[in-house]
Amino acid sequence: MAMVLEALSCARIAFVIAVMVTTISASASEAAPGEAVTQYPCQGHVQDITQVYPFCDKRLPIDERVRDFVSHLSLEEKEKLLVNTNSETTSVGLPAYEWWGEALHGVAKSPAVHFGKGPIKGATSFPQPILTAASFNKMLFKKIAQVISTEARAMYNENQAGLTYWAPNINIFRDPRWGRGQETPGEDPYLTSIYAEYFVRGMQEDEFEDMHGRQNSSVKASDKDPEKLKVSACCKHFTAYDLDQWYKVDRFDFDAKVTKQDLLDTYNPPFQSCVEKGKASALMCSYNRINGVPSCADYSFLTELVRGTWGFDGYIVSDCDAVQVMYANSKFAENPQQAIAYALQAGMDLNCGDTASKFTLEAVKEGLLDISFIDAALQNSFKVLFRLGYFDGNPEDPESSKYGKLDRNDVCKQEHQDLALEAAVQGIVLLKNDKDTLPFSRLNIRKLAVLGPNADDTIATMLGNYAGEPCNYFTPYKALASYVETTTYHPGCVNGTFCDGNNWIEYIQRASEMAVEADAVILVMGLGQVQERESFDRTSLRLPGKQEELVKTISRVARGPVILILMNGGPLDINFAKYDSRIKSILWIGYPGQAGGEALAQIIFGERNPGGKLPVSWYPEFYTRIPMTEMSMRPDIHIGYPGRSYRFYTGEPIYKFGDGLSYTKFTFLFESAPLTLISSSKSRLFCSWLLERRNPTSTSTTKMTSDADHIPFDENMEIEFEVRVKNEGPVFGSSVMLLYHAHPYAGLFGKPIKQLVGFERVDLESMEEQKVVFKVDLCRQLSFAGVDGTWFFPEEGMHTFSLGDYEVTHPMQITYAKN
Ligand SMILES: *[C@@H]1O[C@H](CO)[C@@H](O)[C@H](O)[C@H]1NC(C)=O
Ligand SMILES: *[C@@H]1O[C@H](CO)[C@@H](O)[C@H](O)[C@H]1NC(C)=O
Repeated sequence: MAMVLEALSCARIAFVIAVMVTTISASASEAAPGEAVTQYPCQGHVQDITQVYPFCDKRLPIDERVRDFVSHLSLEEKEKLLVNTNSETTSVGLPAYEWWGEALHGVAKSPAVHFGKGPIKGATSFPQPILTAASFNKMLFKKIAQVISTEARAMYNENQAGLTYWAPNINIFRDPRWGRGQETPGEDPYLTSIYAEYFVRGMQEDEFEDMHGRQNSSVKASDKDPEKLKVSACCKHFTAYDLDQWYKVDRFDFDAKVTKQDLLDTYNPPFQSCVEKGKASALMCSYNRINGVPSCADYSFLTELVRGTWGFDGYIVSDCDAVQVMYANSKFAENPQQAIAYALQAGMDLNCGDTASKFTLEAVKEGLLDISFIDAALQNSFKVLFRLGYFDGNPEDPESSKYGKLDRNDVCKQEHQDLALEAAVQGIVLLKNDKDTLPFSRLNIRKLAVLGPNADDTIATMLGNYAGEPCNYFTPYKALASYVETTTYHPGCVNGTFCDGNNWIEYIQRASEMAVEADAVILVMGLGQVQERESFDRTSLRLPGKQEELVKTISRVARGPVILILMNGGPLDINFAKYDSRIKSILWIGYPGQAGGEALAQIIFGERNPGGKLPVSWYPEFYTRIPMTEMSMRPDIHIGYPGRSYRFYTGEPIYKFGDGLSYTKFTFLFESAPLTLISSSKSRLFCSWLLERRNPTSTSTTKMTSDADHIPFDENMEIEFEVRVKNEGPVFGSSVMLLYHAHPYAGLFGKPIKQLVGFERVDLESMEEQKVVFKVDLCRQLSFAGVDGTWFFPEEGMHTFSLGDYEVTHPMQITYAKN
C-alpha cells in the first residue's frame, strides 16, 4: 500500500483516501479501488462506484465513459496499456487483461486462451477457412463465427479467455506456396470480402438471424445496439501480406512492391468489406513494408484510408513485434523510440509486443511524439472493451451482460459439433469421379484399405494451425472403419507426409499388399503443418517425398477402385493423378477440423453429396519458377510472367478456381437479366464520384427483365439476374452457383479475364428446380480499377455475365448518352 501511495500524485492521495472512507462502511470482504483489483472492472464492491469512477456508469454514452477512463490514468500507466499484455492498473481498479486471443476456426490456443486451466478442456474446431470458403455458403461463415463467439464468451465467463480475438485472416492467397494460405478464404477478393463480412458479423453481432438469414421476429429493433459487441473480431493482416519465409526472404524484411491498381482491386477490398460491411472493431497492420513503408507506420493507410475513407471504428493492433521489426529488421526506424512514434502517429493503437511499454515515454521526452497520440490510441482500444461490456461489472449479473449465463455447458454442445461436421461436408470438393465410381455402396465393399500418411493423422494435421483443443476428433481411417467391418490401414510412408527414409520401399510394399486384398482403396495423401505453416512457405507444389511413388504403385496393383484424398491447404500439382485412369476419384478435404474424418466417410458412402468448389487455383509445378516476391496480379507477356489467380493467370491450371463436381447434375438458365443499360452522362459522373468517395449509401433495386430494351440507369443501382437452376440428376445435392462478370476487352489492358460478382448455394432434390436472384451493384461491382489507383465507372460496350465455367453466358450492353 505504501508503495502505491508513493507513486501517486497529491491529488491522487486525497482521492484514494476518499475511496477508503467509502469502503469502511462496506462489508469486510469488499475491496477498495487502488488497493486490490477485482476480477472484473467496475465490479460493485464499492457502494457507489460510479461516483468514484464515472466510466463505470452504464447510463453514460460510451465515448464519454472512455474519455473519463483515460483521464484517470497517469502517463506511466498509459504507456503500460499500449501493449497486448496489460498488467493490472490499481488506481482505476483495472485487472490484468490480455488482448491477444485467437479464433481462426474455433477458439484457439493463444496468450489469452487457456484450455485446461479451468473446467473447459476443448472447444469446437471447425475446418481451416480455406475449406469452409469452398462451401460458398455465407450463412455458414456467419453461423460458424456465432458458435465461436458463444464458446469464447463461455470461456471468458469461466475465466479461461478474453473478449478480443484476432481473426479472420483475410489476406488474398496470391501465391500457392504461401504457408498461411490455409488460414484464408482463398484467392478471390469478392469471396474473401463476403467471408470477412459474415465472419465478423457472426463474431460481433447478436444472433438475430437463423441459418438462412431470416430475421428473428421476436427480437425488437431496439434490442439491436450496433455499439455493443459479443466478442471483438479483427481483420488481419493489413495489407499485401502473403509471404512468410521463402528461401532467404522473410516477412519481417519483405518490402512488397505493389501497384495502386492491385491494391485497389485485389489486396484491399477484403479489408474494406471487413470494416464497412462487417463493422469490425479491430484491424491488424502487417509486418511487411508496402512500397518501402511498414504497414504499421503508414499514415495514408491506417488513418486516411481505414479510419477516414472506410470509417473504421475500433482499434488498430500491430502484428506481434511489428514495431520492433521496424528498427531491428527493416531499419525503417533508427531506434525503438522512433519506431513507436512512427506507429502511433500513423494510427496504430495497440502494440502486440513490448516496444510501446518500454519506449513510448522516451519518445515523448525526446520530442518525437505528442501525448495526444497516446490518448487517442488508448481511447480507440479501450472503447472496444467498453463496447464489449468489460466495464459493466460482473457478467454473471444479468443487468451487466446478456452473455453472463454462458458457461462450460455452452462449449462443444452437440449442435456446435454438428456444425463442424456440416462445414466440413459442405466444403469438401470432388475434383474427379470417373464412371461415377463414388459414392461407394457399403454392400459392395467388404474389405477396405485406407492407406497413406494422412489416413490416421495427428490432431495437428487434421485441424491445421491456429487451432485449439478439439472437443474430439476422428481421423479418416477411424471414421471409415466404422462403415466397413474389415478395414486395413498402413501409412505407406516413412516419416509422415515427408514420406522419405531408409525403409520407404518396404512401406510401399506393405501398403501394396493391403491394396491387392481390398475391394477398394482410399489413399489419404497431402501435406501437413510440417510442409506449410506460419513462417514457412513451400518451394514445390508436388506431393512430398515418395508420395507420388506410393500413389502410382498402389493404383497399379490395386484390385478395386482407387480413390485419392488430398489433405492440404495450399494447391498441389497432381497432374499425374488427374490423368491416370486407374485413379478413379479425387477429393480435396483441406484441413477439415475435428469432424473431417466423419465428413469424408459420409461423402464416400453417399450419405452426403459433395458441393464444394475450389477457392484457389491449383497451378502446375513450373509456377514455382516465378519469384514468390512478385506481387503483381497482372501478367506481363514481355517477361513471360503469367499473372496470378483465375482473374489474371494466362496459363492452364491443374484445377481451376470454382472447380468441383457433384453426384448429381445441375443445369442453369438466365431467366431474366438486363440486356441494355443506358445512362445519361450525369449518372456517369455520379458513379465516378461515388467510386472515388466510396461513400456508403443505401442502394435502390430496380427490377428489370430481358424484354425491356433500353433501361435508363440510376446512379445507385443494383441490377438483378434471375437464374433458374435444376437438379437433373438422380440424387439430392447442393448447387454452388458462381456468377462472373467480364468487362469489354476482358483480359486486356489490365482488366481481369473475369471476376466473381455473386454466389449462392442452393439445395435441390432430384428433378427439383428453383429460381435464384443475384443482385449486382452497378457502380461498385462493374467498375474497373485504373493504374492510378482509382475506380473507373462501368465501361461502355458489351459486358458478359456467366455462370460457373461459362456454362451459360449473358451479354449486356452499357451505353452512355451523349450530350
Ligand atoms: C429468437 O430470439 C429469442 C429471444 O432472443 C430467442 O429466445 C429465440 O430462441 C430466437 N429464435 C430463433 C429461431 O433463433
Ligand atoms: C522426417 O523428415 C524431415 C525432413 O526431411 C527430417 O527433418 C526429420 O528429421 C525426419 N524425421 C525422422 C524421424 O526421420
